[in-house]
Amino acid sequence: MDGVCRRVGSTFAILRPMTEWTDETAEWYASKYGEYPTNRLAIAALALDPEAIIVDIGCGTGAALRQAAPQVTQGRLIGIDPIDRMVEIARERCRAHPHGARIEIRQGPAEALPVEDGVADLVLAFDSYDHWNDTAAGFAEVRRILRPQGRLVVVKDGGIPGDRAGFIAALAPAGFEIREERQLSEDDVSCMMWVCEVAR
Ligand SMILES: C[S@@+](CC[C@H](N)C(=O)[O-])C[C@H]1O[C@@H](n2cnc3c(N)ncnc32)[C@H](O)[C@@H]1O
Repeated sequence: MDGVCRRVGSTFAILRPMTEWTDETAEWYASKYGEYPTNRLAIAALALDPEAIIVDIGCGTGAALRQAAPQVTQGRLIGIDPIDRMVEIARERCRAHPHGARIEIRQGPAEALPVEDGVADLVLAFDSYDHWNDTAAGFAEVRRILRPQGRLVVVKDGGIPGDRAGFIAALAPAGFEIREERQLSEDDVSCMMWVCEVAR
C-alpha cells in the first residue's frame, strides 16, 4: 500500500504516505475521512433489498453500513476491518447511530474473512481492495462468502487511473466480471462504482 488517496478539489492526491494500517493511522483516517461522502453516494446509487445480508470489507468507521441501515430493516449488516482501533471506532459510531443496533463489526482481514460460506447477498469494498495485502486472496474470499447470485460492489475515490485492466485482471481469477460501471459525483467528490457478479 502506497498511501491513502483522496480527491482534494480538482486534484487526486496521496494525502499521507504510509506502509501499513495501524491504530494511529486508523485514528487519523477516522477523524479526517470517517464519514467520507463516497459512502453515502454509493449506497444511494444501489437499490438495497430490505432483507439483504450485506458485508462491508475494510469498513473503516462503518460509514457505508450506517448509510445502508435505514433501508435494510430486516437484513444483516456486517462490517469487517483488521485494525484494532478502527474496529473500536466503528463500534462506537454504530452504537451512537439510530439504526446502529443492527450493525455488527467483526475484526479480520479480507484475506481471511470471519464470515460463513455463501451467506452474503452483497459485499461492499469501498476504497478498500487496494489496501488489502493480497488482492487475489481477498477476491477469492469474497466469492466464498457470496451467495451464487450475490453481487460485489467496488468503489474507488477518483477511479483507478490508468489501471482498469489491472482491476479486471484481479477480479477474474475469482470468477467475477463487471456488470455495471458508474461514475458518482457531488461537488468536489467523484468516485467510480463497479457492480460485479460471478461470470456465467
Ligand atoms: C481508505 S480506508 C476505507 C474505509 C471505508 N471503506 C471508507 O470508504 O470510508 C481502507 C480501510 O481498509 C482497511 N484495511 C487495511 N488492510 C486491510 C485488509 N487486509 N483487509 C481488509 N481491510 C483492510 C483499513 O483498516 C481501512 O479501514
